[in-house]
Amino acid sequence: MNLIKCVARPLFTSKFIVLCSLLAATGAGLAQTNLPVIQIQADKVTAPMPPTFYGLMTEEINYSYEGGLYGELIRNRAFKADAIPEIIKPANYDPAQDYPAKYPAGVAPKFWSTVGGAVISLDTNNPLNEALNVSLKLAAATASTNAPAGIVNGGYWGIPVRPLTTYSVSFFAKAAPGYDAPLAVSLESADGKTVFAHAEISGLTSDWKKFTTTLTTENVAASKENIFKLTTTAPGTIWLQQVSLFPPTYKNRTNGDRADLSQILADAGPKFLRCPGGNYVEGDYFNRRFNWKRMIGPTEQRPGHPSCWGYWSTDGFGLPEFLGWCQDLNMEPVLAVFAGYTLRHDYVPAGPKLEPYVQEALDEIEYVTGDASTKWGAQRIQDGYPQPFKLRYVEIGNEDWFDKSGSYDGRFAQFYDAIKAKYPQLQLISTANVKSRTADLNDEHYYRSEEEMESQAFMYDTRNRDNKTKIFVGEWATRVGSPTPNLAGALGDAAWMCCLERNADIVMMHCYAPLFVNVSDLGAGRSMQWKSDLIGYDALNSYGSPSYYAQKMFSQHQGDEVLAIAAQNLPTYQWQPPAKKHNGVEQPATTNEVKSLFYSATRERNTGKIIVKIVNRADAPQLVKLDISGVSSIGAEGSATVLKAANRDATNSLDEPKKVVPETETVSGLGTSFTRTYPPCSITILELDAKLL
Ligand code: AHR
Repeated sequence: MNLIKCVARPLFTSKFIVLCSLLAATGAGLAQTNLPVIQIQADKVTAPMPPTFYGLMTEEINYSYEGGLYGELIRNRAFKADAIPEIIKPANYDPAQDYPAKYPAGVAPKFWSTVGGAVISLDTNNPLNEALNVSLKLAAATASTNAPAGIVNGGYWGIPVRPLTTYSVSFFAKAAPGYDAPLAVSLESADGKTVFAHAEISGLTSDWKKFTTTLTTENVAASKENIFKLTTTAPGTIWLQQVSLFPPTYKNRTNGDRADLSQILADAGPKFLRCPGGNYVEGDYFNRRFNWKRMIGPTEQRPGHPSCWGYWSTDGFGLPEFLGWCQDLNMEPVLAVFAGYTLRHDYVPAGPKLEPYVQEALDEIEYVTGDASTKWGAQRIQDGYPQPFKLRYVEIGNEDWFDKSGSYDGRFAQFYDAIKAKYPQLQLISTANVKSRTADLNDEHYYRSEEEMESQAFMYDTRNRDNKTKIFVGEWATRVGSPTPNLAGALGDAAWMCCLERNADIVMMHCYAPLFVNVSDLGAGRSMQWKSDLIGYDALNSYGSPSYYAQKMFSQHQGDEVLAIAAQNLPTYQWQPPAKKHNGVEQPATTNEVKSLFYSATRERNTGKIIVKIVNRADAPQLVKLDISGVSSIGAEGSATVLKAANRDATNSLDEPKKVVPETETVSGLGTSFTRTYPPCSITILELDAKLL
């Protein structure tokens, strides 16, 4: 939610730039003397490309897990969405203590309705356990085979029904004495016309028991306007908890992830997962932080919590699930730990009161990396992950530059000392400038308009190289387009990623944010809390935005070495930034000269292939000369992968998921020096067949 202001340095005289702009604006052939020239020195490697350069940032926002990646299809399965969110200030908060959720009296649980005259209410007198300290009480005064009574859930804006698919149903239930009838579960169309699958479960007693069954559809058309129903054919009183419905998950993981979203991510080849990043790790208050110890073990033992983005999280997608996600996509976790500061500016200063949180972080690292001989490593094994995870980076907090108390320096130092003492190999990431210790990396966040992103697309070229603290750009996005970015967003992103790549000697990793948005209800239902998100979906379908495809192109054409690159005669455009106020007084409008051509070059070590990225953000085609030195030859044929569209507003959506996607073609006329025209509003990746000297 924060902006760091940076200004790109002009590299050329303004007279010269104006000339270039005029020529570029014509869109036609540029005078040869002013042709933009990009020079690549293939014998000069400026940095190895960090193997974990491209990654993912994740948090529970925009229904990213619940109603998103997490496979669960039932909304409010644990009936805690009505819990009254409690505010506990640090002075009254004991991290070792449980603070059980409280509920309004006499209400029916959100997102559940009834059929057959059933009456439902939240019941705190019949909880499943301490974690799920409430249940749904279903009172059916009348019910029969012809007129069953029960509960209905519409999922997260629908329940996806696919052909020939088996869904796993589970729930905990008990009944009042005397109840001796089966319960029926079914997947039905919301209009009541079609029953897609049906099963019966019997054996309820007056004690809580877990029941499981499956529902298998026939060769029906895929749809999402559906409901899940649980009914009785006999009168009685029944209590239910954790009513769950899972489709087949990615790689068939139990309690696993939605397959289509996982596949979109896998296709882009991310190398790390910042988990969890963002405000979600902090929470609004201490009792609403990412409290990982309550997000492990069997899901019915996880109490859940109100997440900072306005909805309840069951925490079925907790720390083990982040690790499962990493395993499935072959990503390295970048573990973010709670650092004693919350979104509402509550904090615990450095000192003995911070110690429990430091210990929490140490235990969390042990959970991720420990073997069976360690307490928390053994717990992870019990949770289904026998092998310790490779962990190199731990991030301490999130956006602690918000903490105006000045406590971060001390808090960071306390975490730093404890973690380095036990795990000296770990690289520690700060989230604001610190003086007391030298952070290994600092996390910088940039949310920008297209023009701002392009204005600062050379900012790291002039960063001080003497700084021992490297850079992790842990959140960034060109925020143009809603719910997902359009081509203009992708152009800003690509300009920015060229900058990150050119500067991979100081920028070690980066990840776009936010990753996901459920686009089902952008109005009152607020399925989105933050606009311009990389990947959109509803209950049934999903799509990648043009920004996603830009990411994918860059990530799949990473290379192993960054090559020295320089440019002359870069075209520019005029941009007037939005008016700003200083001390309440509107500042005079300024006009910025912004470059409209961006570039980077890397090489694959094994093949020698040179990968050149060129972004033409202008609305006109751009002729560019490429000179490559330090090679004996460049093959005349290569390939070009291009993302472009008729205009910068073009975008993808559920209805047109593949409107703006890259296309790859064989190109000829390449060599150590060649000119090529780059289409308007385009991102091009050239793969050149190079022979070393
Ligand atoms: O990505 C959305 C939010 O932006 C993150 O939660 C927070 O870290 C940042 O302010």
